[in-house]
Amino acid sequence: MKPDTTAPHVHGLFDPATWTVTYVVHHGPGTACAIIDPVLDYDPKAGRTSHTSAEKVIDYVQSNHLKVAWILETHAHADHLSAAPYLKARLGGRLAIGSHITDVQKVFKGIFNLEPGFKLDGSQFDHLFKDGETFAVGELEGEVLYVPGHTPACVAYRIGDAVFVGDTLFMPDVGTARCDFPGGDAKTLYASTRKLLSLPPQTRLFMCHDYPPNHRAVRFETTVAEQRAHNIHVHDGVSEAAFVAMRTQRDATLEMPVLILPSVQINIRAGQLPPAEDNGTTYLKIPINVL
Ligand SMILES: [Fe+2]
Repeated sequence: MKPDTTAPHVHGLFDPATWTVTYVVHHGPGTACAIIDPVLDYDPKAGRTSHTSAEKVIDYVQSNHLKVAWILETHAHADHLSAAPYLKARLGGRLAIGSHITDVQKVFKGIFNLEPGFKLDGSQFDHLFKDGETFAVGELEGEVLYVPGHTPACVAYRIGDAVFVGDTLFMPDVGTARCDFPGGDAKTLYASTRKLLSLPPQTRLFMCHDYPPNHRAVRFETTVAEQRAHNIHVHDGVSEAAFVAMRTQRDATLEMPVLILPSVQINIRAGQLPPAEDNGTTYLKIPINVL
């Protein structure tokens, strides 16, 4: 029997250090796959990267004989470093993100006073996706949904009946992502959540993170119907004004993520480290009293 290309197989790998889920999406052993939001392990105390999480992705891809078509980022993450270049070197595939990454690059080039040669055109990635653009993962059909608000460049990826929402929605009992990073906007996020929740009710939604409350087990898959009925921030009936008031008040209480400074500096370069200095060592910057 021919595998159903409208309902791809989704393999999620949860990273307990950053609460992030990396996905491998395919339609059976030996087919093409997309890797979404891969994590590079980083110890902020030692300033050291490692590849335990990335190797788990490689093991999965190789043991299922998958051919990597795409490595997809939903946005420039502020809570983990991207393993995209490491995976691309090992497995191949084209690295892509939403086209508005250029706006994020502009903001953070200023904040980090990056080297003059740092390009603001997104050319560090292999491809920049526009809203509504389609792409193929073997026989699977993908579509890009522009969903800004958490950052100005966020995209979600629909592959068959599965949508990878990035940091727009979290599980229903957690709600939505913060909107107080540079370029974030609660009103814009509200519109993006409505865009996702207007998809067919049975659409499978896959979260980029889970922060399980009350000792529940980690979960990262839900549906449009479940979110519309139960999402604590954006269930049906919550107005834009009520959402914006809640989100703004809540964001004012949140600390910056532990890894925001290293993550952003690396992720706006498509996961590459900044150029090494003349002693051969790479350094990250900490802007003082800026964020
Ligand atoms: Fe994020």
